[in-house]
Amino acid sequence: MVLYFSGTGNSEYAAKKIGKEIGGEVVNLFEKIRSHDYSGLHSDSAWVVVVPTYAWRIPRIVQHWLENVKLTGSQDIYFVMTCGGSIGNAGNYLKKLCRTMKMNYMGCMEIVMPENYIAMFTTPTQEKALETIRQSQKTIDQAALLIKNSQKFPQPDISFMDKTNSGIVNDIFYPMFVHAKKFYATDACISCRKCAKLCPLSNIRIESGKPVWGKECTHCMACICRCPSEAIEYGTHSKGLPRYVCPKNI
Ligand SMILES: Cc1cc2nc3c(=O)[nH]c(=O)nc-3n(C[C@H](O)[C@H](O)[C@H](O)COP(=O)(O)O)c2cc1C
Ligand code: SF4
Ligand code: SF4
Repeated sequence: MVLYFSGTGNSEYAAKKIGKEIGGEVVNLFEKIRSHDYSGLHSDSAWVVVVPTYAWRIPRIVQHWLENVKLTGSQDIYFVMTCGGSIGNAGNYLKKLCRTMKMNYMGCMEIVMPENYIAMFTTPTQEKALETIRQSQKTIDQAALLIKNSQKFPQPDISFMDKTNSGIVNDIFYPMFVHAKKFYATDACISCRKCAKLCPLSNIRIESGKPVWGKECTHCMACICRCPSEAIEYGTHSKGLPRYVCPKNI
């Protein structure tokens, strides 16, 4: 069974591709995470978890969900992490997670896809994004083939920088940068409420027709990138940048 979480569609795209190749059920974790639903799941075939990379590790909201859910049937679990450049030493933390979950770690595959972190970096144009997605195809196919053959993913070489990024930088990143204080809606807002419905942490409420952000943000970038009016900004950084949503899912 393929389980995925996705803010802006890259991981959804990769999950559906892999699901199609291996002939497995594909389950979106959005509703389960949002409603704190930890009811058990069963799969006789290997588990495949497809997620974005947040500060060189899996998203903490997915980590938390996996720590609390009971997966029965197969004990083998693969991880596929989409990223803008590198997943660092994420695999090391996933091995630890698997020990907690009493599951058999089958490896973690890095899939380089378009950058979605509009609050901090530059997002690509649709043309560039499509080219990056085209290049990611080979690795997605490779991952699917290994899963199909019940083979482990290859172990990547890990540098000192990878260890630092997934370790101390990840520890510092969340308390320092992951908050919703800089989000605001401009006059372009049409009060459609889509942003509130899209937030995996129910962190957005609508007051007088406009979104108001709470304190639970995990920086998935769904609200800012999926607003139909491009009415959401993050401080001054997001101004003029293209909103990124995986063009293959539109
Ligand atoms: C909060 C946040 C942190 C990120 N950290 C990393 C990172 O450490 N390394 C990286 O290569 N990409 C990073 N990215 C980019 C995303 O992992 C990448 O664009 C991913 O494919 C987005 O997946 P999604 O469309 O399924 O949400 C980050 C993005 C966000 C929003
Ligand atoms: S998605 Fe955009 S237009 Fe719709 S309510 Fe939110 S900010 Fe306003
Ligand atoms: S507030 Fe926006 S960026 Fe933060 S978790 Fe919700 S949808 Fe994602």
